[in-house]
Amino acid sequence: MSRFSQPQDPLFQALDRSLDVDRRLWPYDVAQSRAHSAMLAAQGIISDADKTAIHTALDEVEQELAQGRFPFRADDVDIHMAIERRVTELAGPAGGKIHTGRSRNDQVATDLALYVRDHAVRLADQVEVLARTLLDVAQRHLDWALPGYTHLQRAQPVYLSHHLLAYVWMLVRDRERFRFAARQADVLPLGAGALAGVNFDTDRTLVARDLGFAGVVPNSIDAVSNRDFALDLLQACAVLSTHLSRLGAEIVLWTSSEFGFMELSDAWSSGSSLMPQKKNPDCGELLRGKAPRVVGHLAALHGVMHALPLTYNKDLQEDKEHVFDAVDTVSVCLDAANGMLSTASFRRQAMSAAASDENIAATDIADWLVKRGLPFRDSHGVVAGIVRTAVESDRNLSSLTLEEFRGHSELFDESIYEIFQQSAWLESKVSLGGTALPRVSEQLQQARAVLDL
Ligand code: ARG
Repeated sequence: MSRFSQPQDPLFQALDRSLDVDRRLWPYDVAQSRAHSAMLAAQGIISDADKTAIHTALDEVEQELAQGRFPFRADDVDIHMAIERRVTELAGPAGGKIHTGRSRNDQVATDLALYVRDHAVRLADQVEVLARTLLDVAQRHLDWALPGYTHLQRAQPVYLSHHLLAYVWMLVRDRERFRFAARQADVLPLGAGALAGVNFDTDRTLVARDLGFAGVVPNSIDAVSNRDFALDLLQACAVLSTHLSRLGAEIVLWTSSEFGFMELSDAWSSGSSLMPQKKNPDCGELLRGKAPRVVGHLAALHGVMHALPLTYNKDLQEDKEHVFDAVDTVSVCLDAANGMLSTASFRRQAMSAAASDENIAATDIADWLVKRGLPFRDSHGVVAGIVRTAVESDRNLSSLTLEEFRGHSELFDESIYEIFQQSAWLESKVSLGGTALPRVSEQLQQARAVLDL
């Protein structure tokens, strides 16, 4: 019997059907169906014979799905209905008992929680792999100087190791965000039924243990309406992809002829269909270009959840596409970033030539005056005047005479020229977290220790 006297409109069916998106949840759906039916038997809600028939059918369904020979039907609306239908075909009347004390509302929340937990853990590991690669590249270029930039103008010299470690710390935080998402997904929704709990003496703790959950969602209403764990995973993906976009953008700049700081391996470059000389950093560009799509998925799921009345609403079916595409996208981006960076090479000469632009010693001259008693705001003005004298006469700062320096401040003496030793500007940055080599070496050790956690 059906409640309805008319068939569904095919256009509505096309809109409603989520199978093409949610079919990838099948391993989780099979696992939870096993755990649920085992619990039903343990509690005496179904017989052991029924459980055995259901499990035998689930084994077959699992094989069919894994081998791509599952007989999907045009009227399977989602993976949950398809699996239940097939189990019933294979197990006979026992199959009809698999959905005892279960609703698709707690079922889909459980499948998604399992998916999010698995993938959050996997992505945390992938983030760590990339962080370790960057750490190794940093170690190999410990004392290679290049300019640090603000406003994309040369600002102060730093070591390449220091610059790359900035990304390592971003990734350390990203790994933490994925681990957080995994913990948020580590409580079992199943057992909530449609929303109110079920009319059977179930054992949710047993199911949780079976599926490896740390606990059980305490409120049945929250269990079916919560998608925070999906938002948390998307948040982790969004921040990570924004980080990768900055890395990608710098690689695009650094591999340009204008910078010439870096060269990608052929394996991670593309040519041009027209210009034979081109070696393009498409991988860096794609790290940059993929980020808004991932951030868009986060914004979209917030939109789905916004003002949604409790409990389950079909709007929630829209959660999966955003989660799956974000996970797929950041996963391939992480592997690509790793491949590109572990095979790239840096050009020491070009970086160091750019870092020996004497204008980037201006702050150091100002600090030199501060150490001789001038208030910083005054010394900033003095050095601005010196830079102007140099720029207007088209000379380097070090070619100004001592008289010219002293024309700006009586405090100057011969020792000001020592500042123009490039390593002096770097090695003077001794503050904790600064670019002086002893600090960078400490930082490398610190990052290694954190990554081992
Ligand atoms: N395909 C649905 C989803 O992804 C499964 C849950 C359907 N529940 C319902 N009450 N219609 O959300």
